[in-house]
Amino acid sequence: TRKADVRIVEVGPRDGLQNIKAAIPTSVKVELISRLRKTGLGTIELTSMVSPKAVPQLADARQLLSTREIQEFLQNEQIGHPVLVPNMKGLERALELGVQEVAVFVSASEGFSRANINCSVDEGLARSRQVAQKALEAGLTMRGYVSCIFACPFDGQISPETVSRVVNDLLDMGCYEVSLGDTLGVGTAVGVKSLLRHLQDSGVPIDRLAGHFHDTYGQAVSNVWAAYECGVRVFDSSVAGLGGCPYCPGAKGNAATEDVVFLFDRAGIETGVDLDQLAVVGAWISAQLAMPNGSRAGAALAAK
Ligand code: HMG
Ligand code: MG
Repeated sequence: TRKADVRIVEVGPRDGLQNIKAAIPTSVKVELISRLRKTGLGTIELTSMVSPKAVPQLADARQLLSTREIQEFLQNEQIGHPVLVPNMKGLERALELGVQEVAVFVSASEGFSRANINCSVDEGLARSRQVAQKALEAGLTMRGYVSCIFACPFDGQISPETVSRVVNDLLDMGCYEVSLGDTLGVGTAVGVKSLLRHLQDSGVPIDRLAGHFHDTYGQAVSNVWAAYECGVRVFDSSVAGLGGCPYCPGAKGNAATEDVVFLFDRAGIETGVDLDQLAVVGAWISAQLAMPNGSRAGAALAAK
């Protein structure tokens, strides 16, 4: 693997697929992960251990993690493989399957918290803290997400003070990094800079933050760059720009990994990811899902 200046967290197999209605065979998911591993990505989120009623598409999480291929990937610690868990039940299942890293997720807004995990923000934080204690005890590493950093589909605008409280709590419970989720995809470069300035002023270390930008208004790549300029060095993205949350009506996919890698490549900033190889994976998964390729850079490279 090449030494990277920024780390890309590929969330395609989880965020990318979770909102797709058509059935996707587990074997296709395994092949996606396996192809992504060969591109040089440092972290690949595998799936989530959530209620199958809440996210039917990922109801095969146990099956997926039990496959010989994924069990092998979990043994090889060169690449991080977080699994999203909302509660103790999710953590226990993840532990049984040899998962080494989990990601907990809470919202900065009450409306989305209720819709997404059926509890208040404070209850979500308390559940995550419970998961954190057990996960850290078991020797796992843990990432955190805060959703709705700018706005909530139900509550409207969210204040930076609310975001900072949740971020600080996630760091305090032992998350090595907190990913700032613009779930609705309404942020712009100016908003990203202003929020990051606020977080920094409230004592949050910039090097413990990641950017997770959905592309509803076409601003995800611009938001990545704005965050980079503020010192953020970790970005979540999905191959082929897949993504979206079933409980966030109106939101589009994540920043496309190909677009993000293209941006950094052209700036001479090393991501460790082979763009050509990644573009092949993006074209492949788009064809598998019979969906147009949601990455502009990926589609342009594929057309060459
Ligand atoms: P609930 O109904 O309050 O929970 O849901 P419950 O404890 O009453 O359980 C309900 C049923 O789910 C029971 O089954 C449980 O066993 C089962 P039943 O008895 O009815 O057959 N259950 C589980 N099954 C498997 N794994 C589990 C689990 N827990 C309970 N861990 C709950 C609460 C949190 C479980 C539910 O609301 C849920 O699963 N929500 C997850 C929603 C989700 O995954 N959303 C997408 C991910 S977040 C996101 O995309 C944002 C992010 O990308 C960042 C950003 O963009 O901002 C991360
Ligand atoms: Mg997301």
